[in-house]
Amino acid sequence: MNLEDQEKVKVKVGIIMGGISSEREISLESGRNIFSKIDKKKYLPVSIFMDSSGFLWEIPVKMLIRNSTGDIECDLEEEARKVPYEELKALVDIVYLGLHGKYGEDGCIQGLLELLKVPYVGSGVLASALGMDKYASRKVLEMSGIDVPRTIAVSSGRWKSDKDNIFREIEKEIGMPCVIKPAREGCSTAVRKVLSLEDARNAVTNAFDWDNVALVEEFIEGMEVTCGIIGNDVPVALVPSETIPTRGVLSLEDKFLYGQGENKTPARLPEDVLKKIQDVAVRVFTALDLKAYARIDMFVPGDGRIIVLEPNSLPGMTPSTVLFHQAAASGITQPDLISRIIQLSLEAHSEKKGPL
Ligand SMILES: Nc1ncnc2c1ncn2[C@@H]1O[C@H](COP(=O)(O)OP(=O)(O)O)[C@@H](O)[C@H]1O
Ligand SMILES: [Mg+2]
Repeated sequence: MNLEDQEKVKVKVGIIMGGISSEREISLESGRNIFSKIDKKKYLPVSIFMDSSGFLWEIPVKMLIRNSTGDIECDLEEEARKVPYEELKALVDIVYLGLHGKYGEDGCIQGLLELLKVPYVGSGVLASALGMDKYASRKVLEMSGIDVPRTIAVSSGRWKSDKDNIFREIEKEIGMPCVIKPAREGCSTAVRKVLSLEDARNAVTNAFDWDNVALVEEFIEGMEVTCGIIGNDVPVALVPSETIPTRGVLSLEDKFLYGQGENKTPARLPEDVLKKIQDVAVRVFTALDLKAYARIDMFVPGDGRIIVLEPNSLPGMTPSTVLFHQAAASGITQPDLISRIIQLSLEAHSEKKGPL
């Protein structure tokens, strides 16, 4: 086969990165890492940038290495080609969603791609939406007998008119300390540890800057762990990692900026606990009907329970991300993992009978 024919049989993968959410800088890191690690013998990657208004642009490789999404956005008109959504189907065979957070990980872009009949990696519309919504996903997980933090959801409408009762509920059902956060965000956006009802007032108000629903949940003490999963109907857990918070962060005026720690793979826990973490992660994946891959964050409080904090349906794919460490522990390289995710996603789309 000549070179041109070889290129023709490759699967064209449109890697979408950037986007509208608070996680767009991480998304850029994920996207360009996927672009650089994807197996070029099998796949033909096309880098697609989603700008802050949600428009798509095919960008040249030289733009991929800019410092920030803002830097890329400045030069789009001059150096990139705008891709109307309806052109995607002709441009690529599958979309690799390097997006994270709002509109990228929550079912929105998934729904749009379904209408365009373009396969995409990862979970479908409902599983993505559920995965993003920490309250809704906890309700489903609870029904499946999985431990989740005690949680109250407070809507901004009720907050305006019923604060006294909400405070009473927080005292009675959650207690102090507690953690307050928006229901659907990522990157620890507006996540606060709270020690008093007065603090709670500010934290809830702050969470409403990001969502119309704030969650007030029990503060969980114990080791934080995270476990990657790959598969569709028969999901397989990778080696669980321990998330180690950086000390300086934890002491900051009792207002914690979380999620910035390092990771250790495997987590320093006995074999049977690691196994239990993997079992719970697989059960979460199945209960929420996640597809291809995901990363489940959990706590090990030391009383025999594994408490699920949240699923991540499009986990970070940055070069040093924990998912790659876990894959490496099973002998799976970055290009291999990306290939498996694409393969599993193509399978899921070829088997579906409606939107994924
Ligand atoms: N209920 C909780 N108890 C203890 N720590 C928490 C709790 N909720 C969140 N955290 C800490 O804050 C981090 C971010 O919270 P998380 O709910 O995962 O939000 P995000 O979706 O922004 O990652 C977690 O990784 C954990 O370290
Ligand atoms: Mg998290």
